[in-house]
Amino acid sequence: MTALPLKEALSRSCHEIEQTIDALLPMVDGDESLLIEAMRYASLGGGKRLRGFLVLETASLFGAPRQAALRAAASVEFLHAYSLVHDDLPAMDDDDLRRGQPSTHKKYDEAIAILAGDALQTSAFEVILDPVTRLDASVRAELALSLAKASGAAGMVGGQVIDIRGEGRSLPLNEVRRLHALKTGALIRYSAEAGAILAGIALTDPRRQALLRYGADIGTAFQVADDILDSTASTEELGKTAGKDENAHKSNYVALLGIDGARAEARRLSDQAREALSIFGPQAETLRSLADYFVERRS
Ligand code: IPE
Ligand code: IPE
Ligand code: MG
Ligand code: MG
Ligand code: MG
Repeated sequence: MTALPLKEALSRSCHEIEQTIDALLPMVDGDESLLIEAMRYASLGGGKRLRGFLVLETASLFGAPRQAALRAAASVEFLHAYSLVHDDLPAMDDDDLRRGQPSTHKKYDEAIAILAGDALQTSAFEVILDPVTRLDASVRAELALSLAKASGAAGMVGGQVIDIRGEGRSLPLNEVRRLHALKTGALIRYSAEAGAILAGIALTDPRRQALLRYGADIGTAFQVADDILDSTASTEELGKTAGKDENAHKSNYVALLGIDGARAEARRLSDQAREALSIFGPQAETLRSLADYFVERRS
């Protein structure tokens, strides 16, 4: 079977992931209906679905079951949606626009946004741990453990703390590298590893190790590209407020290296990520194109 070009593969997976999310969040009666509505708003209203796509693509390298991979893909998109809802809150980046629409706290209110984020986070774990996800209990537990590590104090949330505390300060390059690896890299690295976990591939297996290296490099490159886009793309292109990082005096690659220096670093990381995939041969062509897309994208 020849691989689909990246855009087609991405749009097909995007559609399947959204159908899975839709089915996982049915509307309910009572006061909680507003919560479910906000969870649907935050998780279904656009987004590139790159983390979910990574889960599906790496799962397909090993022939892991598609239905289980789709649930793992929806799960990581829930976790990601929660991180965006909380990232936009007034106490964090105070951003009113997300995915071309009012941020969740603007559409609803802050309390509902906080609670929708909380519930999206717990749903992320529920979805992979539920026996309906037809995988061995040990595989479900391993996915949940890896997702927890990627999202918590040693992952995304830890990175968000460094980001917020770094406002108005000039962090050294090695600290900004750590910030990016944690706040964005960790969840993307998990997404790349998830396919191997779904297929029961051991941590020591060189193929899983290769995906971990690939995920770490594209994960950091992704945030470097996000920093570049914040200062070079328009609000319309991004669907979120452009120029926010400079206004908030964020410590990031653009502030430290300038646009050209940041571009060179993003390219270096993406090339390194492609090399990590050599063990898979031509089978990993879509993942190689994805590494390029991560740094060449305009939104
Ligand atoms: C935005 O992530 C937040 C960052 C980690 C930079 P994405 O650019 O993947 O957001 P969506 O899901 O496509 O909206
Ligand atoms: C956010 O980084 C990373 C998260 C963990 C959500 P940013 O604050 O740069 O993301 P955007 O630019 O608001 O999407
Ligand atoms: Mg932020
Ligand atoms: Mg932000
Ligand atoms: Mg940003």
